[in-house]
Amino acid sequence: MSCKTAVILAAGAGTRMKSDKPKVLHEVCGKPMLSHIVSKAEKAGVDDIITVIGHGAQQVRETVFGDNLRFVIQQEQLGTGHAVMQAADMLPNDGSVFVLCGDTPLITAETLKEFSACHEKEKNAVTVLTAVFDDPFGYGRIIRGENGELLRIVEQKDASEAEKAVKEVNAGMYCFEASFLKEKSGLLNADNAQHEYYITDLIGMAVESGKRAGAFTVKDAGEIMGVNNRVQLAEAVKIMRRRNADRHMLNGVTIIDPDSVYIEEDVEIGNDTEVWPGVVLKGRSVIGKGCVIGKGTIIENSSVGNGTDILESVILDSSIGENTHVGPFAYMRPNSHVGSGCKVGDFVELKNAEFGDGSKAAHLAYIGDADVGEEVNIGCGVIFANYDGVNKNRSTVGNRAFIGSNSNLVAPVSVAEDAYIAAGTTVTTDVEKGALCVGRSKETVLPGWVESKGLLKKKK
Ligand code: UD1
Ligand code: MG
Repeated sequence: MSCKTAVILAAGAGTRMKSDKPKVLHEVCGKPMLSHIVSKAEKAGVDDIITVIGHGAQQVRETVFGDNLRFVIQQEQLGTGHAVMQAADMLPNDGSVFVLCGDTPLITAETLKEFSACHEKEKNAVTVLTAVFDDPFGYGRIIRGENGELLRIVEQKDASEAEKAVKEVNAGMYCFEASFLKEKSGLLNADNAQHEYYITDLIGMAVESGKRAGAFTVKDAGEIMGVNNRVQLAEAVKIMRRRNADRHMLNGVTIIDPDSVYIEEDVEIGNDTEVWPGVVLKGRSVIGKGCVIGKGTIIENSSVGNGTDILESVILDSSIGENTHVGPFAYMRPNSHVGSGCKVGDFVELKNAEFGDGSKAAHLAYIGDADVGEEVNIGCGVIFANYDGVNKNRSTVGNRAFIGSNSNLVAPVSVAEDAYIAAGTTVTTDVEKGALCVGRSKETVLPGWVESKGLLKKKK
């Protein structure tokens, strides 16, 4: 049986981050490090997660929560061994448990599954996840005997020169036989360079008491990288960004410059979509097939239908249908819903607005708090004046209406189907179906006025 329980150590101050925020809440690609570990453990089949918190406990609880999550407080941060002791009473009496760290956000569910399967197969009291690093500095080293058998783990600060030369490191993730962990964690002591209780000492204790201790080495060492400072945080973000980009490319998405895009984990993209450099795709965004997402576009928590292209635009908490053109330089603010076959052109801003199929606003318009029907034409410079200084009001424009350039629709107002608004009109009363609304005074032309005032300029 694979591990159904996990203990996540997340109480440390994260001193090296030099932050007011607890380390495990620092974000990697839009999600706190701790949330990454929680979701990976869940995907690996864990349904009971005990998180040990201490430093910034309240903040951690408020930020990361879920049905499978329980918390236990470690009052004083006396080391990883002391942290796991706090959870001992909450552990099951039999079966296996994962112990994971809150600062290793790059671990994958696949690796956790293989790791736990290896632990079960070898019937170990403890199995440690290891990796081989060219530069192992800072990590605990895996010390093996003459026949390659695992002996113990030694921390950087306690290691001899010979031990420091070892390149196999402790990832800080373990599978324990629950009964062994409950029994032995209480026996740890702090006799070491850092005067801390080390969870890593449990490996040596297992070997000494004749129990089986094993190691499982990850294929991709990048997965176990621990984030202790902001340089490592940036490295983790870089690895995760690249990993997310690679996943989409292998699914048939063209990414012109994978190192320049920022795509968060939960984003979905259909095949044959092209993503240009500098694009940012965040949150739960779903992008269809055969789209073009142009340079520098930002899309957050939004959906985009098949065949739509978006150039240098910002789309937040909104949706766009199929075969629609957006941008360059369009701004869709939250709760805007643009249909299929539409055009939302340059310098068009939408906010909290419906924009029906086939409707067009080709340039320079503000469409806020509006319900715009289908096949409507919004001319250049049209403004939905939605705010009266106190309240926001909604306006409605019926199907096939034509709103001439430089018109203002002073909300709340309604323009019915097939109506025409002449260019330059300020609409303050409702316009009925098929009517023309013109609201401008007749201009006056005075022939010869410029010369009569002595203002005529000579040709240079
Ligand atoms: C630890 C390991 C080291 C390993 C490395 C992998 C020990 C003694 N060392 O070192 O062998 O190579 O992780 O990244 O375990 N924590 C608590 N309470 C505490 C102390 C720490 O909850 O009192 C938590 C931290 O919040 C963190 C995790 O445990 O999430 C690891 O602690 P950290 O201080 O980062 O240990 P490392 O020095 O990285
Ligand atoms: Mg660490």
